[in-house]
Parts: sequence; C-alpha cells; structure tokens
Amino acid sequence: MNSIKFALDEESLTNTTITVAGWVRTFRNDRFIALNDGSTIRNLQCVIDQQEVDAETRARFTTGASVQCTGELIPSQGGGQRVEMKVTAVEVLGDCPADKYPIQPKKHSLEFLRENAHLRFRTNTYSAVFRMRHQVSFGIHEYFDKEGYNYFHAPIITASDAEGAGEMFRVSTLDAKQPPLNEAGEVDFKEDFFGAESHLTVSGQLQAETAALALGKVYTFGPTFRAENSNTTRHLAEFWMIEPEAAFMDLKGDMDLAEGLCKHLIARVLNSSMDDLQFLDARLAEEEKSKPQDQRSEMGLVDRLKFVLENPFERITYDDAINILLRSKPYQKKKFQFPVEWGVDLQSEHERYLVEKHFKKPVIVTGYPAKIKAFYMRTNAPGDFGYSDKGKTVAAMDVLFPGIGEIIGGSQREERLDVLEARMDEMGVPKEELWWYLDTRRFGTVPHAGFGLGLERFVLFVTGMGNIRDVIPYPRTPGSAEF
Ligand code: 4AD
Ligand code: MG
Repeated sequence: MNSIKFALDEESLTNTTITVAGWVRTFRNDRFIALNDGSTIRNLQCVIDQQEVDAETRARFTTGASVQCTGELIPSQGGGQRVEMKVTAVEVLGDCPADKYPIQPKKHSLEFLRENAHLRFRTNTYSAVFRMRHQVSFGIHEYFDKEGYNYFHAPIITASDAEGAGEMFRVSTLDAKQPPLNEAGEVDFKEDFFGAESHLTVSGQLQAETAALALGKVYTFGPTFRAENSNTTRHLAEFWMIEPEAAFMDLKGDMDLAEGLCKHLIARVLNSSMDDLQFLDARLAEEEKSKPQDQRSEMGLVDRLKFVLENPFERITYDDAINILLRSKPYQKKKFQFPVEWGVDLQSEHERYLVEKHFKKPVIVTGYPAKIKAFYMRTNAPGDFGYSDKGKTVAAMDVLFPGIGEIIGGSQREERLDVLEARMDEMGVPKEELWWYLDTRRFGTVPHAGFGLGLERFVLFVTGMGNIRDVIPYPRTPGSAEF
C-alpha cells in the first residue's frame, strides 16, 4: 500500500501499478473518485471504468466511504494534478450512508464541525491543522535536541501550585458526597489517595528546575491543566506546554532561546507544510473578506510567517510598553476596555496593540511589576534590563505575537535563597510544601532561566485559525469535555 502523498509526488511510480486506500471526498460523473487518505491535503483522482465496476458498487462511492483502489498511475489527462490512477480493481471497505453522514462536500461552519469533533479531521481544514500540529510538535523536539536539551517528563499529578494562581483541578479518590473530616471539621486529605491534597499540574517548571540544576538543560512537553474560568478563543482547561529550563542562562539567553525556537518552528512548517499552508492561507483570505476593512490583517498567512522568520523580535521593557500605550490613539480615545497604568497586567487588547499596530512584529516585554508575576521570578536591581524606578520589577519576559498576544511566558529565576524566601513570604507561598524546591537554592544554586510556550497558541499562529478549540483534537473548556 502506498500513501497518496507518495503516489502523487514520487515520479518513479508513474506508469506502475500501485494500491492506495482512503476516504471518498467526491465521486463525479459516475467515474472520478477524489480519494484522500490524510497523508496530504491533495486528493488522488481514481478513474473508474464503468464496464468493469457495476452500478451497485458505484452507488457505494459516497462521500466518506472508505475505498481501496489498485491501478496504474498515469500522467493526468485533466489539469490540477501530475498523475491520476486508472483503476483496475476497487473495493469498498466501509460504506458511508449519505443521508446520515454529517460531513458533506460543502463548506461547514467551524461551530458545526466542533459539534462533530470526531469526524472533523476528515475535512481539509482540520486535516491541515493537525498535520501542522504534528510538524510543530516534532520541530520542538528537533530544536531542543539540537541545542543539547534533555526531554524531561514532569509529573502530571502534583501537590504544588507552581503559578500560585489557585486554578487547579483536584485529583482525589475521596467520596465527594461524604468525605472524611478532620478534628477541625475540614476535609481530611491525609485520608486521600496521595495522603495530601493533590492536583493536575499547571506547570512542570518547578520540577524542571530541579533537573536543570543537575542536567544543565532540560525541557518538558506535556499536558497542562488550568481551572480558570475564561471562555476565550485563547484559553483551554487542558493544553500542552513546552517548558525549557537551563542552568547558567540569564534573561537575555532566555529571550534568545525563545526567539530561536519560534523561528525554528516557523522555518520547519514553511519547509514541510507548504501544501497545507497554502490551503489555510486561501481559507484565511476568504474569511478576512467578511471582516471590516480596518480589522483585516495586512499580510496573508505565508507572508506573515516569512516576515516573523526574517525580522528580529522587538525587545522592550514593561515601562516602555506602558508609555507607548498611554500615548496610543485607542487609549486617548478611551477605546481600551481595561485600564492602562504602571502596575496593571497587560491585557490581550494591549498586547495586540503593541504587536499589531505599534511595532508590527513580535515583541518581547521584560521587567514586569513583581506584584503581577509568580514568586519564582528574579528581582531586578538597578542596571538590570527591566529595572524601574516606579516600583519593584522582576526578570520576566513575555513573547507577544500578532493575532494572539502572549504566546510565551518566562523568566530568569530567583536563585538567591534569602530573596526567594522573602518573596514567598510576601506572596503567601507555603515554604514548607516547597522544601524540595528551596533545596536547589541551598545546595549549589546557580543563575538559571526558562519559559513556557503554549503549543496551541503557537499552532493558532502558524495555521491562521482564530479559535484555540480548532487546533487541539478534543478541546476541554468550561462546561465542555465531550468526546
Ligand atoms: O505564562 P504561563 O502561565 O507560564 C508558566 O506556566 C511558567 N511556569 C512557564 C515557565 O516559565 N516555565 O504559561 C505559559 C504559556 C502562556 O504564554 C500561554 O502560551 C500558555 O502557556 N497558556 C495557555 N494556553 C492555553 N490555554 C490556557 N489556559 C493557557 N494558559 C497558559
Ligand atoms: Mg503568562
């Protein structure tokens, strides 16, 4: 059996007899099967000889039916493809009743396809997205391997809240209706499976730090869970995060690593996924037409990827970002929904203004106020990039992308035990529970840094899709865990 991609691309197969199998996209003129097996967005045209295949069998070549064809690959008579198959033997493997099959050869809305998430992979759009998701995932391993990083498997079940945001899913075997209580009348988690209150991880960073302080360079790549109630086009309750962590790396090195990763992944998809990209580019152009002129993007998908690949990311401080926003038109015309002043977190509308309107390229913002960032980030001193006289800042860095906003969040870590402990006290982070984490600062501490890349946000960017639910196979969001 050959893949359709191989059959279409491999010139030495021309004028030989091969077998392919796939799903019928369309069957035209009672003769032409457009067959797709998912190996490429392109279909193989399989031409049936009506004398050889009876009418009863031909009636079974409905959209969605699975079919195996054997025949000679010959130079194509029609335009559009290099070769087509002159079928000598055909077998229907699985029928697909046209009156019941939801996916028809016409444009379906993405909402409709989300409701049929188990079948949506059979459409051009989703098959392109998920082939590209594979390319990005593989490219991540490729990049870190090339840079000398070890793939590190952080645990999925954990007792610690790395981000300190309290947005965690509990993992428990206690009876939810009648849990055991302690003397104070509270749920007694000592009786629970792990002997302590446990959760699904919100980040593998803390464990990755312990490994980086031994192996030097590590990265995690795994599922991540957040019980934040944000029903946006950029948030999932279950998503995949990549978290590199490196000893002896400072904030500048961290930014270079992040920019290098993004560019490596973009170069990879431009190289490996051009068919899919061209399809998604055309799809996006079509979608843009329905938007008002001022909301349309200036570049198509492929041009946008090339632009990001070829230009250095802008690197600014949080102070710069606030000043730019305060001087901006939308701020002055009161068009921003959220306030802008030193000390507030940047909202996606602010991030997108900086990236899309002001700099017109990816932006890395450093030196965020300590108050709005996690406890493990390094406190800035005068002379550090991102130090501010307006208040205490940390060596954080967020990478902001067009159309999305934050795609990466990272920092140089606080390696000084006394400073870290003081910060944990200030923020109410339990030091006793994180004794093992603090040990890294007690025993041979070193400057180190890392970041987290949201896989789905990156896939959104490279596919030009608009909703994060469309780039993960089975999205889990507030109120929804079907399939
Ligand atoms: O900025 P975050 O919260 O950073 C961390 O978790 C750090 N521990 C990372 C590190 O330094 N090792 O999350 C990192 C990235 C975000 O920039 C975003 O791309 C993605 O993870 N992300 C989400 N993606 C989808 N749905 C959500 N609910 C997400 N929350 C974060
Ligand atoms: Mg963040």
